Amino acid sequence: MGYGSVSPASKRISVTYSTTAHAKALQWLTPQQTADRTFPFLFTQGQAILTRTWIPIQDSPGIRLTYTARVKVPKELMALMSATNPQERSIDGSYTFRMDQPIPAYLIALAVGDLGFIPIGQRTGVYAEQSMVKKAAWEFADMERMLLVAEELYGPYRWERYDVIVLPPSFPFGGMENPRLTFATPTIIAGDRSLTSLIAHELAHSWSGNLVTNATWNDFWLNEGFTVYFENRICEAVYGEDRALMLQVLGRQELERTLADLSHEGHVHDTHLRLDLSGRDPDDGMTDVAYEKGFAFLKMLESKVGRPKFDAFLRSYFDEYAFQSMTTDAFLEHLDVELLAPNKVVVDVAAWVDGPGLPIDALIPNYTGFNDVDDELARWLSGISAGELRTADWNAFQWIHFLRHLPRGLTQDQMTELDNTFLLTQSGNAEILAAWFEQCIRNDHDPAYPGLDRFLTSVGRRKFLLPLYSELMNTEKGKLMARTIYQQARPNYHAVAVRSLDELLVWKDNKPTVSF
Ligand code: BES
Ligand code: ZN
Repeated sequence: MGYGSVSPASKRISVTYSTTAHAKALQWLTPQQTADRTFPFLFTQGQAILTRTWIPIQDSPGIRLTYTARVKVPKELMALMSATNPQERSIDGSYTFRMDQPIPAYLIALAVGDLGFIPIGQRTGVYAEQSMVKKAAWEFADMERMLLVAEELYGPYRWERYDVIVLPPSFPFGGMENPRLTFATPTIIAGDRSLTSLIAHELAHSWSGNLVTNATWNDFWLNEGFTVYFENRICEAVYGEDRALMLQVLGRQELERTLADLSHEGHVHDTHLRLDLSGRDPDDGMTDVAYEKGFAFLKMLESKVGRPKFDAFLRSYFDEYAFQSMTTDAFLEHLDVELLAPNKVVVDVAAWVDGPGLPIDALIPNYTGFNDVDDELARWLSGISAGELRTADWNAFQWIHFLRHLPRGLTQDQMTELDNTFLLTQSGNAEILAAWFEQCIRNDHDPAYPGLDRFLTSVGRRKFLLPLYSELMNTEKGKLMARTIYQQARPNYHAVAVRSLDELLVWKDNKPTVSF
């Protein structure tokens, strides 16, 4: 068939196209930007609206598709997609992929690099660059168990395999729930399995998000709020209630901060669960609110009807709407008919979904485990030396809580004492490092700046970059440092991070708009 012969009887249309090196969904990395520094790397990021930059497609989360792909790469490299995947390199660099379950366009994904694979369990495994793959397999050893626990909670896993690929550090997110193959930042490899809740989160998306998908980005909370709830349930089952509660408390702290920032910036509407993103890049309205206020809403509902009923409700929701999209209105109707009315529960749904901030019936996580941390901090502030604090058995979450609660106006001696005693600048845990560096900027703790510079230059995860750069932007000295580091680091960041940071640092057309 020639070109231009589409008729009412046409069943099939072929579109021939080529993409450019600048498509925003693609990040092409030189060997120097990878862990092994030997081969180049490529990965895609589709969510929210970037798939259209590399594939001509109806790029709405409300539209689903299946796909097959043939991908040819240099024979030293392996290609992987959000589809059936190889576990070994092919001889000639040719790979074929099938995704037989219908998915939205934002979940089409491709990664290419010098990758190794290690199985974790029957249905789970890890891909990473050769030098990272053993470490990654150790870190994610709980994956198979997480999968079993998730199925136990909300029904069979419908995507056959669940693998994770650890990407180079410029990956702008913590994780991305590409079906069958979660994309993950290397910053969750802490060496102590402390940051694996991220895997629980991306796995949970195999139900909330990938099976039942937000119909539009205004309904984003249906993806993320449900996923944070599910993630927390997986963590509770695998690691115990204590860990789950710690994560809830830390999540609430993040929410409070986001709510304060948004209302301060005059974006009160972005504190609603149901968003109005018309005329905006959806990426600008996607905040912690969908995650943590969404979680709080579900937690409140759970408390009204009790867990057994709430679990049955969620399970049948995933079954009934599997492989379909869901609007906020359709969900609220379903909620009313299936859960609220039969249980005679009255809640102010409108306050949660279309109102600002955290409604008064939000529960406060009932957790006293951080009291010891608060006590030790108080002891230190009252003059007890850091070396005498009882911190020996603290886990990463306790440290994060401690660091977040350091008061403003600490002296250089105090900051130095903390660093010398607890070796914070040398921490191998990216969450601890980020929380510590934020305090270093706030207290202008010079000795940490080389470490901060290294961190900002080597890590591309937006969640870490934005708070650190914003904190720097609060003072003249900080602004100069931010712009100097950014000039250096910007070429290594992903387009998604660059977009947010350009705005923050007042950068335009690849240059600063102010001289410094
Ligand atoms: N789907 C998101 C990532 C995302 C959101 C990409 C919006 C593009 C636009 C993913 O599931 C996610 O939430 N990742 C978090 C980690 C999670 C543990 C909260 C992240 O990247 O930090
Ligand atoms: Zn998510």
